[in-house]
Amino acid sequence: MTLTATATAPAQRNALLAGATGLTGGSLLQLLLESGDYARVHALTRRVLPLDHPRLANRVVKLAELDRRLPGVRADDAFCCVGAAGGPAASAQELQAVDVGLVLAFATAARSVGATRLVVISALGADAGSTNPFLRAKGEMEAALRGLDFAALDIVRPGAVLGVRDGASVGGLLGQGLRVLTNPLRVGRLAPTRALPSANIAAAMLAATRTGRRGVTLYSGQALEDLAAGNRRLA
Ligand SMILES: NC(=O)c1ccc[n+]([C@@H]2O[C@H](COP(=O)([O-])OP(=O)(O)OC[C@H]3O[C@@H](n4cnc5c(N)ncnc54)[C@H](OP(=O)(O)O)[C@@H]3O)[C@@H](O)[C@H]2O)c1
Repeated sequence: MTLTATATAPAQRNALLAGATGLTGGSLLQLLLESGDYARVHALTRRVLPLDHPRLANRVVKLAELDRRLPGVRADDAFCCVGAAGGPAASAQELQAVDVGLVLAFATAARSVGATRLVVISALGADAGSTNPFLRAKGEMEAALRGLDFAALDIVRPGAVLGVRDGASVGGLLGQGLRVLTNPLRVGRLAPTRALPSANIAAAMLAATRTGRRGVTLYSGQALEDLAAGNRRLA
C-alpha cells in the first residue's frame, strides 16, 4: 500500500499546554499526544510529569516567572487548563493569583512564542462584575485575554467539571455524585449548568482548534457538549 505524504507526514504544528497535571489538563495532554495534530506538545508544569512520549516536551517552570520568554519553544496553539485548587471553592485571593494572574502570564508567554490560538477554560456565568469571586475572576481573565490579540480565542465555559482528583475528599466525591444524579434534571434553561466529565471538556478543547474559527468564540451548554461529541466521532 502506498501512503500519501499527507497521511504519513507528522503534523508540523506545535502545542503549548499549561495545567497538564490537573484533571482536565491531564486528559487534554493525552489527547494532544495521541491525536497526531501536533509534532510537539510543550507542557509547562511545576512538577515533572510522570509520562514519557516522543512528542512530549515537559518543562518545569513557574508560570509567574515565564517572563515572556521560553527559549527554544515555538507554538501555534496554546491550551490553558490552569485553575486554583478547589475551583469555585477557592479563596478570592487564590483565584485572582491563579485564574487571572497565572493564566494571563501563560497567555502572554504563548503569544511571545508565536501562538495565534488560545483555548482556555473559564466557567459558565463568568462575569467581571459578579459578586461571586470565582465568576468574577473568570470574567476578568476573559476580558484581559481578549486584549492579547490572539487571532483565535476559544473560551470554554463548563458549568462544572466532573472527575476524580488526587486527594479528593469524601465530601467532594459526594458532591460530584450529586451533580451526576441531578444532571438529567437540568433541562431547558438549566441545561448549560450540567456537569461535564473532564475528558469531554478536553475533547472539546481540541475540537475547537479543528473548527478553524477565528476571533473570540464562547462555548457553553449544548454547544460545548456537541463540540466534545463531534471530536469523539472524529477520533
Ligand atoms: N471545578 C469545577 O466545577 C469547575 C467549574 C467551571 C470551571 N472550572 C475550571 O476548569 C479548569 C480545569 O479544572 P480542573 O478541575 O481540571 O483543575 P485541577 O484538576 O484542579 O487542575 C488545576 C491545574 O492548575 C494548576 N495550578 C493550580 N495552581 C497553580 C499554580 N499556583 N501554579 C502553577 N499551576 C497551578 C495545577 O497544577 P498542580 O498540579 O501543580 O497543582 C493543575 O495542573 C479550571 O480553570 C477551573 O477553574 C472548574
